[in-house]
Amino acid sequence: MTMLETDIRNADPLSLFYQWFEAAKGSEHADPDAACLATAQDGRPSARMVLVRRVDERGFTFFTNENSRKGQQLTANGFAALCYHWKSLERQIRVEGSVERADASESDAYYASRARGSRIGAWASEQSQPLDSRETLLKKVSALEAQYEGTDIPRPPFWGGFRIVPTRIEFWQQGEFRLHDRFVFTRNASNGWDVQRLHP
Ligand SMILES: Cc1cc2nc3c(=O)[nH]c(=O)nc-3n(C[C@H](O)[C@H](O)[C@H](O)COP(=O)(O)O)c2cc1C
Repeated sequence: MTMLETDIRNADPLSLFYQWFEAAKGSEHADPDAACLATAQDGRPSARMVLVRRVDERGFTFFTNENSRKGQQLTANGFAALCYHWKSLERQIRVEGSVERADASESDAYYASRARGSRIGAWASEQSQPLDSRETLLKKVSALEAQYEGTDIPRPPFWGGFRIVPTRIEFWQQGEFRLHDRFVFTRNASNGWDVQRLHP
């Protein structure tokens, strides 16, 4: 499949993202919203997968433990990148931009939508900290289950959403003989987008 010049030039990157994401939902066997999140601190990059739960005109939002390694890096350096790869579509989308916190109400709403076990897990896990044994974690889960039995589980104060506010979004479609199509959208001074084709 090649990307049509006219489709790209008349598109805004968000609507193009939605088109590709809808296609991915229909063709990926799991987690079409999974993307690799790259952060960097003191010039040292690190990367891991996250589920990007919401994409809108404000940006790309995922949820995590704010004290985790990624949380610390996102706080220390307000720039990050996401990379989606949909194998079934032979497509990649790269997103780069600044980082902001999701509103408390947004984090509350997403937390409340999660399975009870996941809500307990968010309290139990000191994400990215050393853990002496799995048993320690499971004991903590049991204690929390007892503590919250029959009641609502509040969102942990250290758990919430981060949003990447994009300044650059690149769409990549695999082509034959490595002659891939690449289009990069860059935010311009009037808050619109410029689009440029790139060599593969
Ligand atoms: C497909 C996939 C989706 C994931 N989604 C999330 C997520 O949304 N939030 C999260 O905190 N960790 C998620 N993880 C786990 C992270 O990749 C990572 O192990 C964890 O967040 C700790 O990273 P850190 O030590 O760099 O903070 C996911 C892992 C995979 C494989």
